[in-house]
Amino acid sequence: MILYNETSRTLTLHTRRTTYQMKADAFNVLLHTYYGPRVGDDDLSCLVQYFDRGFSPNPREAGIDRTYSLDTLPQEYATCGVGDFRSSAAEVEQPDGSLLLDFRYAGHEIRPGKYTLEGLPSFTGGEGWETLSVRLQDPSSGVEAELLYGVCEEHDLITRAAVLANCGQAPVRLRRAMSLCLDLNGNLNRTDLDFITFYGGHVRERNMSRAQVCHGIQSVGSVRGVSSHQYNPFVMLCERSAGEDAGLCYGAALLYSGNFTAQVEHSQFNDTRLLIGIHPHHFCWTLAPGERFTAPEAALICSPDGFAAMTHRFHRAMRASLIQDPCPGTRRPVLINNWEVTEFHFSADQLVEIAREASKLGMELFVMDDGWFGNRNSDYSGLGDWVVNQDKIPGGLEALVPRIQALGMRFGLWVEPEMVSEDSGLYRAHPDWALGAPGRPQTRGRSQLALDFTRQDVRDYVYASLRRVLDSADISYIKWDMNRALTDVWSAALPAERQGEVFHRYVLGVYSFLEQLRRDYPKLFIEGCAGGGGRFDAGMLYYTPQIWASDNTDAIDRLKIQYGTSFCYPISAIGAHVSAVPNGQTHRSTPMETRGVVAMSGTFGYEMDLGECTEEEKKTVRRQIETFKAHYNLIQEGDYYRLTNPFQDKDYTAWEHVSPDQREALVSLVTGSARAAQPFTVLRLKGLDPQRRYRITGTDGLYGSDTLYRGDTLMYAGYPIPLLWGDYQSVQLYLEAVE
Ligand code: DGJ
Repeated sequence: MILYNETSRTLTLHTRRTTYQMKADAFNVLLHTYYGPRVGDDDLSCLVQYFDRGFSPNPREAGIDRTYSLDTLPQEYATCGVGDFRSSAAEVEQPDGSLLLDFRYAGHEIRPGKYTLEGLPSFTGGEGWETLSVRLQDPSSGVEAELLYGVCEEHDLITRAAVLANCGQAPVRLRRAMSLCLDLNGNLNRTDLDFITFYGGHVRERNMSRAQVCHGIQSVGSVRGVSSHQYNPFVMLCERSAGEDAGLCYGAALLYSGNFTAQVEHSQFNDTRLLIGIHPHHFCWTLAPGERFTAPEAALICSPDGFAAMTHRFHRAMRASLIQDPCPGTRRPVLINNWEVTEFHFSADQLVEIAREASKLGMELFVMDDGWFGNRNSDYSGLGDWVVNQDKIPGGLEALVPRIQALGMRFGLWVEPEMVSEDSGLYRAHPDWALGAPGRPQTRGRSQLALDFTRQDVRDYVYASLRRVLDSADISYIKWDMNRALTDVWSAALPAERQGEVFHRYVLGVYSFLEQLRRDYPKLFIEGCAGGGGRFDAGMLYYTPQIWASDNTDAIDRLKIQYGTSFCYPISAIGAHVSAVPNGQTHRSTPMETRGVVAMSGTFGYEMDLGECTEEEKKTVRRQIETFKAHYNLIQEGDYYRLTNPFQDKDYTAWEHVSPDQREALVSLVTGSARAAQPFTVLRLKGLDPQRRYRITGTDGLYGSDTLYRGDTLMYAGYPIPLLWGDYQSVQLYLEAVE
């Protein structure tokens, strides 16, 4: 619910459990007055304090009042050069060369439904959504901003975006345009806040880091052209005492897949400003008179009751109105992928054999990974030549796909459209289509160059060649990969003064390509991938309902990767496979049971030679697939509870999926390396109905109990886990309410 109070000039955004408020003050400065647990409709500017502060300047309208300063006031969209010395939300180089901007409130509109953003991903809205649009003007120039707020009451979600417009007579240059500026105000002016971020690298993505907010600026971000393996565009702020089950916390996700910054600034009076948006590094956008620039959407959730509740709201909101499944309401197929089996070296017959074994065990989709096109026999060649390699696949997909389908399986294909190998027909014909500045040798990444996806002609060419492949056979899935960071960011299609637009235009190019693909192939399922989890963000999720979470398929490493990923992103989005042991990335061996338990807390598939499995292992695989299919809705749509933190608890990691009606739950537990004289393990479950009685069975038929336990017993007293001998063991328990 969005309310405007004409007397106090406050705009109050209520969701079920939270309230967000801003106020146009006497000088039309748009103050941020509150964001937190739901309160009434009072004017919360009573929380804003005014004191005469040395060296904090005062705008002219304040006259001789030295208590009014932009430097100390909480603001909704902070500007630059006119008194606020904290990091600004927007920076505009004016036609006279000054870097001055002073936004003032100029009106607003409240409307039903959710706004959309041209060319950018955003929550799709639906019933119960409302939009607030606030107009800001810089009185001394023609620069205006439209601040957009989407309010989803049910999931406590507030989305934000900003559109900057040049309504003046001469071009201006946008040097910074954040999506979200949040000045925590009132009782949050304090020193006991924590900043939670998710850091990592290739094959070890999204490790959780929790650090005290201290004076100065703490930030994470990416200047790699993709959201990156190194830092994720999802961050949290919380009270020091907050944890999974209690405490105030805020989560903010940027729906963007390129360079980003997420920073917290803790300033002289213990105020805290959170900024999220496109990274200002090499960003400079010229706005001619009449032009507009749209900053990507950010999604915010405040949870007054801990991390788990925040996670559930993000997951539910993303599933309901961000992720667009091409076949909604149907179970996604369990897949087999040949990459970790064959890499680039395979024949059609070999692929059919892999698919045959997989189909016998219950798998439903065969994905042909890298190596099927051009002269792609290693990662030194072939990218850009999207034509089937007839030596490997005689007769092309027209011949191969029916053979796979005859096994009762669907067919999927790997592609990497944004890239080109120097050893390729495409590069030989169009060397200037790769990003790179004239006279400077380009830097290679995985021995490949990135195509200039800012250019329509380049995108059109790649699109046409992919279309020929997609139209040649019945392809129901593609895995869209991207295997290098961007360097040599310079486009032949833009003049020198516009090169600061290339990073962002590249992302817009990728989005527009994906949009066209979705329009032309509405039933095609796209899985995102960037060397695993290098572009795992809410922007990509708008186009690709699932994303390969990491090239690391080791079950024990995956516990951490999937733990970190789960804070914001739904389980249905997390690509996870069972692979062979010893694992290719860690050389660790884990039991097949454990690999299945971990991968099934994701989208679930296999990436191994099943023909080499023993009969016992095949039985396990068959049982895993049956378990996954039986509990599909519970896993994919249930509320996800992290029962332990794998960064702290070394003996075991446990998690739980609980159905929305609390009638079912699936508990999974994986132990660490074995140790003698193990302590007893009693697991306290979460999210159950305290009054109901549950029957517990082990999904492998080994564990469980005939006794019925009440939900409160299981949650507050706990359930004993049997002693598990050996390294990396696992247990999975299914709970069903019987009354
Ligand atoms: C990186 C991906 O993450 C892998 O799964 C695989 O598809 C390779 N690229 C293929 O080159």
